[in-house]
Amino acid sequence: MTTTAKILVTSALPYANGSIHLGHLVEVIQADIWVRFQKMQGRSCIYVCADDTHGTPIMLAAQKQGISPEALIDKVHQEHQQDFQAFAIGFDHYYTTHSEENRELSRFIYQRLKQAGYITTRAVEQAYDSVKQMFLPDRFIKGECPVCGEADQYGDNCEKCHKSYDASELKNPISVVSGTRPIKKSSEHYFFKLPEFTQMLQQWTTQGHLQEEISSKLKEWFEAGLQEWDISRDAPYFGFEIPEAKDKYFYVWLDAPIGYMASFKNYCQQQGLDFDEYWQADSKTELYHFIGKDIVYFHALFWPAMLAGAGFRTPTAIFTHGFLTIDGKKMSKSKGTFIKASTYLKHLAPEYLRYYFACKLNASISDIDLNLDDFSQRVNSDLVGKVINIASRSSSFLKRQFHHQLAQQLPNNDLYAEFVKASTSIAEAYQQREYSQAMREIMHLADQANQYIAEQKPWLMAKNPNQTDALHQVCTLAINLFMVLIVYLKPVLPLLAEKVEALLNIATMTWQTIETPLLNHTINAFQPLMPRVDTKQIQAIQQDSVQDLQVKS
Ligand code: MSP
Ligand code: ZN
Repeated sequence: MTTTAKILVTSALPYANGSIHLGHLVEVIQADIWVRFQKMQGRSCIYVCADDTHGTPIMLAAQKQGISPEALIDKVHQEHQQDFQAFAIGFDHYYTTHSEENRELSRFIYQRLKQAGYITTRAVEQAYDSVKQMFLPDRFIKGECPVCGEADQYGDNCEKCHKSYDASELKNPISVVSGTRPIKKSSEHYFFKLPEFTQMLQQWTTQGHLQEEISSKLKEWFEAGLQEWDISRDAPYFGFEIPEAKDKYFYVWLDAPIGYMASFKNYCQQQGLDFDEYWQADSKTELYHFIGKDIVYFHALFWPAMLAGAGFRTPTAIFTHGFLTIDGKKMSKSKGTFIKASTYLKHLAPEYLRYYFACKLNASISDIDLNLDDFSQRVNSDLVGKVINIASRSSSFLKRQFHHQLAQQLPNNDLYAEFVKASTSIAEAYQQREYSQAMREIMHLADQANQYIAEQKPWLMAKNPNQTDALHQVCTLAINLFMVLIVYLKPVLPLLAEKVEALLNIATMTWQTIETPLLNHTINAFQPLMPRVDTKQIQAIQQDSVQDLQVKS
């Protein structure tokens, strides 16, 4: 499956009230590898994202810090961008949902849906904090579990007995915001008539836009019947006001996906691109959303319905991934496995994690486990032991005996040809998001390269003056095999690839770089490319992660 269409890619917009952690990184690394792969193929591929800045939690977090929500989201935006940049996430644009473009597009889509008869209103009764004068989302209500009586349970499920219930069933409820008992209060809410899209969505969700596992999950939801979606929240709320409605705001999940469009729109203005070409109903471009499995409902039901209802194109595909676990368990603050991107970066280079995730990622929605022992072993044995080793061994002979100059020819064209031939299946694996398969194939090639060196024994050739030419050619082949491996790894390891481009004294690698071996060419002196991971560094990350928690609370 190759395409010549222009491609637009997004990953889910992280909330602007928390730090980027390793779970977020699974997603952006998965998307970034795919985008880098497309770009290396010479395709037009634009990757946009943004911070998701609206909603009650962000409003309250700002109040708690004694700053305005705008100040909070600006601060977090800086941090998020720094973290993503450090992990070499190559966004073409990273914007915010709190933007003029998003306000306009949200109003526009809402107005179109309203004109088409897809919006309705009715009164809803909700918990209300009469001291703070605000309605309370479930997670801002605490009380005793109605099932087992455990105290201090948040919202709609119990951490002790794991039963779920309606937040209104909590016994002796209190508002987390003021500590007082909430009352019931009614107000008018705006609803998006999702059930009117049932037929359209039943088709859309079974036409190859989603993974099989997701399509079948959705069947259950259709059987249960789609519900009208409450898209309004009462003031005070940090978000966009609903036009012609007093003190009503769009629920954050209405304007969040529109934030994909708005980020792209801002980018189009900067770059002189045609926004409509990408979003009009009959667009010939391709649109892909990378998301986690917790937000499928929003992306596979609400979002295509909103787009279709407002006269825009729908996504080409939604790529859903599973959740990150660490040593087989959910990330846990007390165990030091709730690891922030910035904490990881204090101790380890980003590409170890990019590589490890690539080894674990495939196109399914199963969870991805980061096993901390396996992590260091895998990185050390694959990247340092197998791949980098090829270059460090052969470049030392090239330096000592050949002034860094590669030979005029390869001793063996077959091995090089075999490496090049693997390009098709490795490319297909990347295209299908079967990165673990791609990494296996690449490491298999690395094994072959090492085996070749072991058989040729250049260290013996170096002692024999009659074998100077042979040594030269063996090292030249080794360097070329190394180059092919780095081309294949470049979507995963762009920073390493850049260092290798400098080492090999060549232009930016594309997928075509492998077609011509480097011969009669001068390379640069070998510099250490990637140190081994020390288990002490991993322990330090865990210790710091426990500390992060203590500093906060
Ligand atoms: N703001 C919404 C997304 C709006 S998109 C229009 C949101 N934000 S989030 O910060 O909670 O999550 C952002 C993305 O990270 C989601 O796709 C989510 O699934 C993913 N992950 C968050 N924690 C994760 C793991 N532990 N593991 C893997 N992905 C996870 O949802
Ligand atoms: Zn309970």
